[in-house]
Amino acid sequence: MRKSKKQQKHLLSVLLIIAVFLCLILGILLIIRKSGSPETEEVLIAETAVESESQIPETTEEPTSETVTETELPEGTVTDISLSFYRAFMHTDDEDIIPAVRMSPADALDLSAVWESSDSSVARVDENGRISPIGAGECVIRVISVSNPDVSAEITVKVYPEDEELPQPEHILCDPVQEVSGVREDIQVIGGITYVNDIMLVNKTYPLPSDYNPHGMTPETEEAFSALRAAASEEAGLYLFSHSDFRSYDTQVYLYDDYCSDYGKEEADRFSARAGYSEHQTGMVIDVNWPGDAFNDTPEAVWLEENAWRFGFIVRFPRDKEQFTGYKYESWHIRYVGKDWADKIYHSGFCLEEYFQVTSEYS
Ligand code: DAL
Ligand code: ZN
Repeated sequence: MRKSKKQQKHLLSVLLIIAVFLCLILGILLIIRKSGSPETEEVLIAETAVESESQIPETTEEPTSETVTETELPEGTVTDISLSFYRAFMHTDDEDIIPAVRMSPADALDLSAVWESSDSSVARVDENGRISPIGAGECVIRVISVSNPDVSAEITVKVYPEDEELPQPEHILCDPVQEVSGVREDIQVIGGITYVNDIMLVNKTYPLPSDYNPHGMTPETEEAFSALRAAASEEAGLYLFSHSDFRSYDTQVYLYDDYCSDYGKEEADRFSARAGYSEHQTGMVIDVNWPGDAFNDTPEAVWLEENAWRFGFIVRFPRDKEQFTGYKYESWHIRYVGKDWADKIYHSGFCLEEYFQVTSEYS
């Protein structure tokens, strides 16, 4: 029994040693595991980082390409050019024509442009866009933005021999033109005269050649004015007459100069056209009864305002439209445009410049 106790004691000691040994191993393993954790975290962090980086190109791709576009078109670059007409018919001996050019945005840093002719033996163009007819034929005049050569607009120019008749506006079909930035398809120049559709367009932007002279009212205008006068008399008992109708270029030179002397150029420009820019030179305008502010609001002026359209006339410089027409209200100045257009323009409530979206500004 004693021996057995001794054996038991020995067995306990062995078990104790094994337990201590096991504890030691466990402790070492724990230490190893603990010291290994940061590495795993680093790996995880690194993986997350890689994942994030791999997402960066996706999220930054678009802004990157936008940045490229912005770089290609810096602020202030011209993005569009508009020309005041797209087609010109000229005789070899006609005066030069100068299209109005509008660049967008208007505050672009570099508004310079270069002009070129596809055939200088037909028409030449100088650095200011002045187009001179040279010989019979057809060519294209193109204007190109210097700051953005992708932006351009063009005019087809047809030059006819002196003895050949130019096409009439109403006989020209507005055939589809090339899709070129900002070219008006409804405006053309024939013999130096601008037409919007078939209406002769004369204002501060669109002058007439100095030698354009119909020597009086056009027959259509005269006939329409007779009908208007008769109706005013029969319907309202009003007496209307022409105070001033056709005026030649030379008469307008004299008139405008006189007004400038009396009122100064700035004020004169609000009520008198410079020579070449007056509709009176078309033979399609009449100043009725008494030109002057005193005529406004008279029964005659009110009747004209309400009825002139029925005879093919429009009150050309209506009230509160100076910013578009370039002129103060002139209740007496009526312009013949034909019954269809007069009806449309009058009932639109727009003045002619608004209706056809054209400017009236001296260049
Ligand atoms: N009074 C108009 C604007 C003209 O002189 O033609
Ligand atoms: Zn007038």
